[in-house]
Amino acid sequence: MTKTTVVPIKLESSHRTTLQEQIYSSIRCSILEGLIGADHRLPSTRALAAELGVSRTTVMGALEHLQAEGYLVTRRGSGTYIAKQLPDRAAPLPLQHARGGRHPLLSERGRALAEARAPDRRRPVSPRAFRLGTPALDLFPLRLWSRIARQCIRSATAKHLDYSALSGLMPLRVAIAEQLRSRGTKCEPSQVTVVAGSQRGLDLVFHLLLDPGDSAWVEEPGYPGARCALLAAGAHALPMSVDADGMRLSEEPDADNVRLAYVTPSHQFPLGVTMSLERRRELLQWARRSRTWIVEDDYDCEFRYQTQPRPCLHALDPDGRVIYVGSFSKNLFPALRLGFLIVPHDLATGFATARRASDMHPPVLEQLVLAEFISRGHYQRHLRRMQAAYSERLDALQTAIQRSGVPLKLRPVHSGLHAVADVEDGIDAERVAQEAEARDLEVVPLSHYYYGTRAPENALLLGFGAIRPAAIRLGVSHLAQALDAARRN
Ligand SMILES: Cc1ncc(COP(=O)(O)O)c(C=O)c1O
Repeated sequence: MTKTTVVPIKLESSHRTTLQEQIYSSIRCSILEGLIGADHRLPSTRALAAELGVSRTTVMGALEHLQAEGYLVTRRGSGTYIAKQLPDRAAPLPLQHARGGRHPLLSERGRALAEARAPDRRRPVSPRAFRLGTPALDLFPLRLWSRIARQCIRSATAKHLDYSALSGLMPLRVAIAEQLRSRGTKCEPSQVTVVAGSQRGLDLVFHLLLDPGDSAWVEEPGYPGARCALLAAGAHALPMSVDADGMRLSEEPDADNVRLAYVTPSHQFPLGVTMSLERRRELLQWARRSRTWIVEDDYDCEFRYQTQPRPCLHALDPDGRVIYVGSFSKNLFPALRLGFLIVPHDLATGFATARRASDMHPPVLEQLVLAEFISRGHYQRHLRRMQAAYSERLDALQTAIQRSGVPLKLRPVHSGLHAVADVEDGIDAERVAQEAEARDLEVVPLSHYYYGTRAPENALLLGFGAIRPAAIRLGVSHLAQALDAARRN
């Protein structure tokens, strides 16, 4: 049986950092210095809190932070353990923001947000193989977009310079409501709230549906953006595993304040599976039984490969429990920062009013241009062109991997802009990603999207949307070298 380890922690109330930071630093240093070894169990949060004379919340905050960074893992029903594999890529985090400054420290929540370690996919250089999450920017009709933007600016009047509608411009909301039919569901334009990207939408939704301390189911592996937004709302993420049918519900964790489930049913991020119809029904039944919300993130549902789209969850929901979150980041371009929410009729005004606490509304000019782009038929045309381009890029990736004989096994790709490749022959995916980076590739290990409650699968995520077929082929040959180097190491 695993013995509970003793953790040397010394707290000083005169210290310039908070008690939570001191606990965090003590445990982290003890792990890094080898004072407490891999796989040792920590005392329970209750026991630690009693021993140190601090609140349990303080201890839990420190442990959550360590867990988010990969130093600790929790095993259900057993406790919290030192991770077997320490996060060697985790650079020391700047906990003591106030060092050298005269200002007070960030709030606990502020610190957790500022220090949340998330895979860095937003790079300011043009896409290299195999950038994740970026669409085919090389094929975007930028001239056409600029022409429409110039026309919008020229025809703008003084009224366009004032504060605008909180839910977004009506012509854009009408256009979005119409577009939504392609997802097998419908809504009134009055239910559409235009937001500055779906990330802003998630932030708004979580702030409005959750109270601090509430819990939300999330998928594991899952989307770090949702986790950040939950953290910002003071809520806890309860990671649920994902299988070939989507998020598994059979393992409902013990928590009585679960108020919401966040899911990516059309194209699970990052595994790429589509939630089965049966699982969707189960999820809706659970939500009805437990009087909870479902937040459906339909971030890149338009592009499909030899499969028919399934109706979104919103279409199957007779109760108005599903809040639909849509984004233009993949269908057009991420810098546009526009997305939308579909909310129940009776909450639409409340959502609009609540925006006064944050951004009021997204920039008007971008909304005008987008509304024109859609209403003149360019959006649908662009989607059709992109469908063909992505099919070609996916084909280039599949063929190049197959021909190269590299120890990678691509999982079937039914939709979206990235593939999951299992790394074989006992080669470590994280190591491959490091070797790939040294060869100017952008390859993210799947392990970066786990919350630390489950053992990650040894796989890589390969984005193909932003990369031309020739660059994909070249990228695969460089990836073969990275795999070789990782095997040797
Ligand atoms: C799961 C998921 N949701 C949403 C988004 C898009 O977010 P945004 O609209 O804020 O760009 C992404 C982008 O990568 C994503 O992976």
